[in-house]
Amino acid sequence: MKAVVWHGIGDIRLDDVPEPTLQEPTDAIVRLTASAICGTDLHFIRGTVSPMVPGTILGHEGVGIVEQVGTDVRNLNIGDRVVIGSTIGCGMCAYCRAGYYSQCDKANPNGPDAGTSFFGGPKDSGPVQGLQAEKARIPFASVTCVKLPDEVSDDQAITISDIWPTAYFGADLADIKPGHTVAVFGCGPVGQFVIASAQSMGAGRIFAIDAIPSRLDMARRQGAETINFDQEDPVEALKRLTGGTGLDCVVDAVGVDAYHAHSGPAAEQAKQEEQTFGEEVQKIAPEQHPDGKNWIPGNAPSQVAEWAVKAIAKAGTFAIIGVYPQTDQFFPIGAAMNKNLTIRMGNCNHRKYIPHLIDLVKNGTVDPTKVLTEIETMSEVLDAYKAFDERRPGWIKVELAPA
Ligand SMILES: NC(=O)c1ccc[n+]([C@@H]2O[C@H](COP(=O)([O-])OP(=O)(O)OC[C@H]3O[C@@H](n4cnc5c(N)ncnc54)[C@H](O)[C@@H]3O)[C@@H](O)[C@H]2O)c1
Ligand SMILES: [Zn+2]
Ligand SMILES: [Zn+2]
Repeated sequence: MKAVVWHGIGDIRLDDVPEPTLQEPTDAIVRLTASAICGTDLHFIRGTVSPMVPGTILGHEGVGIVEQVGTDVRNLNIGDRVVIGSTIGCGMCAYCRAGYYSQCDKANPNGPDAGTSFFGGPKDSGPVQGLQAEKARIPFASVTCVKLPDEVSDDQAITISDIWPTAYFGADLADIKPGHTVAVFGCGPVGQFVIASAQSMGAGRIFAIDAIPSRLDMARRQGAETINFDQEDPVEALKRLTGGTGLDCVVDAVGVDAYHAHSGPAAEQAKQEEQTFGEEVQKIAPEQHPDGKNWIPGNAPSQVAEWAVKAIAKAGTFAIIGVYPQTDQFFPIGAAMNKNLTIRMGNCNHRKYIPHLIDLVKNGTVDPTKVLTEIETMSEVLDAYKAFDERRPGWIKVELAPA
């Protein structure tokens, strides 16, 4: 079967690989009818989240049809249509039972302290073969797969596999209450869903910060107040537009590949920090293989944390869902500590949110397909990766359909 395989930093290929087989009684085999490319996949190719194991199939977003089930999978039948949660939880351990599926004690083959186990991720996460493939083996399938009602289409369901639950989790971590003034850094697909989630939680005002006009336009169409950090200093603008107070809640939906301003007043500040940012990038991504406009790591890993901590109101809450590698140690702890901030973060506990989001689609409260800008077939996947990686205008969320 065809699958997108990670061979090295800056080197992914569409390969022929063997079909997956059942390995444990708790496994299922699912034939994917939709997958997607995520900002997380880009970190692995840019070299900012490492180490990866060559031969790993990428992708952690999937919708499909159950083809085989192990003897301990009792809630799924062959032929069922399911959405696959990105992170893998056993459903048995104390963490899963408390809703912390991403901290499951059993799912990660490297042991309970290795970190979150998810599809198509780095060595520390398993690795477990990913979902940008024709078929996949789904561990702990009775928990990781959730059956889809007919009313929810594949295009809608693919957003429920990862990006929307992650964004909802971020809004939840940020403790958004009715009336709160919220900001989201990053208007990629995850940031767009943070806006929708904050609205569903009754946020009073929502600011959205990025430097890509088409992404800011989508945020503004959703009703967010937008700030282009290449045109104005985002901290100054956020303070001014909130009457000097700052934000109650901030969500980082950017992660390690953040970049600093390249024009406008914030670029001046960035010049002074150029050396510090450069050292961070060297520590985080010692190996890089940029290729023209592609696979270029962000140039300012701590930029979002710095801006967020400055722009949050005293005693406000900062939620970090942008991904940072285990080796990242760059956070403005002193500034945050002295403002009595609450900081919450982590990998999404997808399974906790998926049933609720299916309901929101089914009853017509939210149509998540507005964020899907491209549907590409697997045969075009490498070009789609490049377009998404260079943030080509209009390319916000890429769904992959079978060839
Ligand atoms: N925690 C989780 O479980 C989880 C799950 C899914 C995705 N993620 C992470 O969420 C993040 C966003 O994912 P995505 O698919 O939307 O990625 P993306 O790369 O499409 O979007 C990131 C956006 O951030 C913008 N950006 C860069 N520097 C910025 C800055 N200094 N200030 C504001 N915006 C800036 C970029 O222009 C881009 O639009 C990634 O780090 C991804 O790994 C986390
Ligand atoms: Zn993802
Ligand atoms: Zn568990």
